[in-house]
Amino acid sequence: MSRITEIGPDIFKITTFIPEIDLEFNQFLVRDEEPLLYHTGMKGIFQIVKESVASLVDPTTIRWIGFSHFEADECGALREWQKIAPNATAICSFVSKVVSVDDVVAERPAKALKDDEIIVTGKSRFRFLQTPHVPHAWDAGHLFEENSATLLCSDLFHQNGKVEPITESEIVSRFKETLIEYQKGPFANYLPLTSKTEQMLNRLADLKPKTIAPMHGSTYVGDGESAIYDLSQVMKDVLFW
Ligand SMILES: [Fe+2]
Ligand SMILES: [Fe+2]
Repeated sequence: MSRITEIGPDIFKITTFIPEIDLEFNQFLVRDEEPLLYHTGMKGIFQIVKESVASLVDPTTIRWIGFSHFEADECGALREWQKIAPNATAICSFVSKVVSVDDVVAERPAKALKDDEIIVTGKSRFRFLQTPHVPHAWDAGHLFEENSATLLCSDLFHQNGKVEPITESEIVSRFKETLIEYQKGPFANYLPLTSKTEQMLNRLADLKPKTIAPMHGSTYVGDGESAIYDLSQVMKDVLFW
């Protein structure tokens, strides 16, 4: 069974820990007039996630399914979700839609979001930021919920292990430990550094998030702007060596 934590008003984090790989996978369910699920999780945990979602909203009423980029933990179970939720539309970048999603995992065509496009789900208001190769993948983007200043940040701030659901202590040190560990094995170069990485991270920092919600690890509540600058420095320190 997954663990459910309310990280903001009607924003719920659903966490499944997989001990074999010492890693948590988080999905986020926004309970609103038009319920939004961010990250579907892999097909292998669909039933577990579905049970958790069902304790919050009727899963058949999910209207929007968002994710950062085309990967199994981001959107692997999209088709399964769309089969049970007849009005669920995937929202992602244009590149995600046309390069992979519509052909591989979507039951119905996705809605491509333009940079800075707003999606209003009722009381929540999401801004889409197109961020190619941040955290990784050409098609990557981010959703930022403007009323609660919550940044759904995908693989940025990735922390290994079974950790507290939400924290006001900094999470950048744990992110750094994970990056260093990954550099020694098959997951090396997890996050690319490009000529535009810093600029895109600065743009996320400028949003001044109060809550930073990674896919893997603790949600951080605090000064998100500083946390993103710290993360940017860690990426340079670890990935430039
Ligand atoms: Fe990823
Ligand atoms: Fe991920």
